[in-house]
Amino acid sequence: MKLPENTLLEIKSLNLCLPDTKTKQKKVILKNINLNLTKGKSHALVGESGSGKSMICNTILGLEPSNAETEGSILFDNYNLLKKPYPDTVRGRKIAYIPQNPITSLNPVKNVKDHIFETLEIHEPQLNLSERLNYARELLLSLQLQNWEKVLNSYAFELSGGMCQRIMIALALCGKPELLLADEPTTALDVMVQAEIAYLLLEIIKKKNLTLLLISHDLALVAQMAEYIWVLKDGEIQEAGRLKEVFANPESQYTQTLIKALT
Ligand SMILES: Nc1ncnc2c1ncn2[C@@H]1O[C@H](COP(=O)(O)OP(=O)(O)OP(=O)(O)O)[C@@H](O)[C@H]1O
Ligand SMILES: [Mg+2]
Repeated sequence: MKLPENTLLEIKSLNLCLPDTKTKQKKVILKNINLNLTKGKSHALVGESGSGKSMICNTILGLEPSNAETEGSILFDNYNLLKKPYPDTVRGRKIAYIPQNPITSLNPVKNVKDHIFETLEIHEPQLNLSERLNYARELLLSLQLQNWEKVLNSYAFELSGGMCQRIMIALALCGKPELLLADEPTTALDVMVQAEIAYLLLEIIKKKNLTLLLISHDLALVAQMAEYIWVLKDGEIQEAGRLKEVFANPESQYTQTLIKALT
């Protein structure tokens, strides 16, 4: 069960089946997925809508539908994350999740301070109120939210999409994660803000030596951000490798088409 030294997470021969929502017939959603994440590197999972990107992400988090049948393994930190019960030190702690739509992910009746303090209550219960405030200030400043005091007292509807996504990243970082899973983290944002958030995420993972799995259908974004790439189609990996090599020499017809569409 031990992982190689530089490997943080390894998905081996993962198959996932679900009853089709209409016909109720068993349907293969993920087929023989092999994917390994190297410590401290950024990785991307790309593919068209419905190809199974979010299903892989949710399965890593133990949040696949309860009627899913799975085979294979997802090794992380001496656990096989496919085995139930899901270990409680992993989700939201060692593995953090950054959602697609930051505005609706924040509770509308709580301000940013409530969100951060409640998250710190879980992860850093030893901190007193003034230490929490210091922690929140440092965190918000590190996410380039210079007017941190105003932000702390704001509600989601008072913040821009980009600011909300910075808050979601802040909340993810409170658990001192080793792995960040970001499922379309910039899709809901406008183009300029997308680039800012992408740059910020890259800076954070470098500074904190975190590992990133970015899920996206945006190949241009992925090209800026990832070192390794997996291309998914209809629940199967079409191509995998170092991004530069895959882009320079795509083997599958599908990847060639994706890259052609980009240029
Ligand atoms: N609860 C479920 N029951 C049955 N099928 C499901 C369920 N959830 C997802 N699926 C199916 O699993 C497949 C993969 O879906 P998934 O959400 O992982 O795609 P995706 O690549 O993330 O797409 P998108 O880019 O639109 O987010 C789709 O065919 C979807 O219809
Ligand atoms: Mg998805």
